[in-house]
Parts: sequence; structure tokens; C-alpha cells
Amino acid sequence: MTVRVGAALAHSNIALSKYWGKRPYEGNYPATPSLSLTLDALTTRTRVRFDSSLRADQFTLNGEEQADAPRARVSELLTRLRVASGTDAFAEVVSSSDFPAAAGLASSASGFAALALAAVSALGLDWEIARVSDLARRSSASAARSLYAGFVELPAGPEEVTRDLLSAYAVAPRDHVDWRLVVAVAGDGSKAVGSTRGMNETSRESPYYAAWLDLAPRLHAELTAALAVRDFERFGAATEQSALAMHASAIAIGVVYWSGVTLDALSAVRKLRATGTLAFATIDAGPHVKVLCRAADANVVCTHLTAVPGVTRVIEARAAEGARVIPTEEVP
Ligand code: PMV
Repeated sequence: MTVRVGAALAHSNIALSKYWGKRPYEGNYPATPSLSLTLDALTTRTRVRFDSSLRADQFTLNGEEQADAPRARVSELLTRLRVASGTDAFAEVVSSSDFPAAAGLASSASGFAALALAAVSALGLDWEIARVSDLARRSSASAARSLYAGFVELPAGPEEVTRDLLSAYAVAPRDHVDWRLVVAVAGDGSKAVGSTRGMNETSRESPYYAAWLDLAPRLHAELTAALAVRDFERFGAATEQSALAMHASAIAIGVVYWSGVTLDALSAVRKLRATGTLAFATIDAGPHVKVLCRAADANVVCTHLTAVPGVTRVIEARAAEGARVIPTEEVP
């Protein structure tokens, strides 16, 4: 019997310029570029134990053994790694996150980043981080970004069919600016439509998908330029536009991630701006509203979001480090 163990920690990330839509070929390549911030407050720790005596992969998330789709997605990543490394052992995966899974709080981003790094480390592979990012991307494109610290870009996949490596990379370090992301948690329920299904339906059916594909790279370029010169207002305005345009393309075909609480939180952000506090909202494939602000305004933003009925929790996040290998006993 051969046993090989590794563990890793990854923080989640929130896209400020959004990825929504995949290239129409195999391999999970995004159709739009994205720019994210890796966040300290949302963390996943994962341990992977390859064991030649196991008959199948096992996956425990937050203390509960998983079957069906969640386990299959973990198995797919492990199989890709088994093929790449010539290993045939199954693995036991134990993972825990400090925030609700599958509710648009980017649990797949930190989850697949931690899984990819823990599995590569368990097998003792000498892979560059870009290769680990590519492995994570094939399971969840947003996970490719969680390998890196601070502001991170994941380019769109090439238009022509490819099987090449596509990884994220850091564009600005953690301390480039002192901005915060305040997460207004709007309930703990799992999302009704997963992001893959939501974006695939949008790309197939939405009359506004072409407009989104046209706009997204321009907003992305605007965000990148504003970040380089630390122009918060310009950066924030493009952040909010990217989220609203992405959701507009999905809402047009009835893929609606927003709840009444989402709208009330958005309105609170607008009121803050009207009274002189620069704050800008972004929303992913779930009802939660994430608000970008300067560090000096974080308290007032937290207070206003806490006052929105239906907001169950407010989390203030700062820029974080990328994923890293940790001692196996640090996974609860
Ligand atoms: O990579 P996924 O399946 O977690 O999809 C991410 C989609 C968004 O969160 C809405 C946008 C993004 O770039 O993270």
C-alpha cells in the first residue's frame, strides 16, 4: 500500500471584471478576460491523501461526505492529474471552508485552487504555479485566479481551438492599493442555477450575449488601466458596470441570481455614493452583494449594509496572499 498526502490553503477571489461565458470548445476556456482580488476573509483548507488501497475517490466537505456531482467534479480534477503524472491511486479529499458553499461566495474558486495545489503537493510534483493554476481552471475558471495574491488576471482563451495551458497571473501586489471588499451575505441558501449552467444558457440563448462579449474586454481594459494609476473612482465605476452588464445578459433569459435583498443592497450602495462615499457593487452567481471601497470608508459601508433587511452577515475582506501548501494537520 502506498500513501501520499498533501494539504493546501487557498483564499477565495471576487472578480471585478467578470468572466461569464466559455469558448465553444472543450477545456473550460473563458470567453472573456477577468480581473479579481484574492480575499483574506474567505478561506478553504484541503487535504488530499492518495492511497493505493482505495477503490474510489472520496470527498468530505465541511464534515459531510459528498456524492454525485460534487464528488464527480473533484474526481475529474484528480483524474486529470493522475493522467498527467502517471499515478493510478484514488484519493481521499477532506476540505473545509469558513463560508457557505455554492451560494455565489466563490467557494469553487478557493475550493478547486486548494484541491489542485494539495493534490500536486501530495504527489510531490515539481510543478510551476502556472501549471497548477491551469489545472484548477479546467475545473472552475475562477479557481485559476486564487493561486495568486492581490489583483489577478485570467485572460480569455484563444478564439481558435486549443489545448494549451492557460493560467492566471498577478497584475498588482496586495499592497498596491488599500481597498476593501465588503461582502453583504444575503442568505445562506445554495444557488438555484450553477455558474456553468447559467453562463452556458446565456451564451446559447441570450439576445444580449453578443453585446456582453463586445463590452467585457473593453471594461476589463478600463479596470486594468485604472488599477495601474490607482484611480479608485474609475476602477469602481467599471467594476459595477461589468457586474451589471453580465447580469443583464443572464436576466434577459430568466437566469436571475438576485433576490429582493440584492436590490436593496444595491440601492444602499447607490445612496452611499449620492451622499459622497465612493462605494461600488459587484455580484456573482448568487444573491450576495460585494462592495468595493477605500479602507477609510469600510466602516461606514459595513454599517449601511448591515442595516439592509435580509443581510444576514457583513464580511470585510482585504487583499490576500495566493494559495500555499500547509501542514496536513492544519486541515480540520
Ligand atoms: O469559474 P466559475 O464556475 O466559479 O464561474 C465564475 C463566474 C463569476 O463568479 C460570476 C465571475 C468570475 O469571474 O468569477
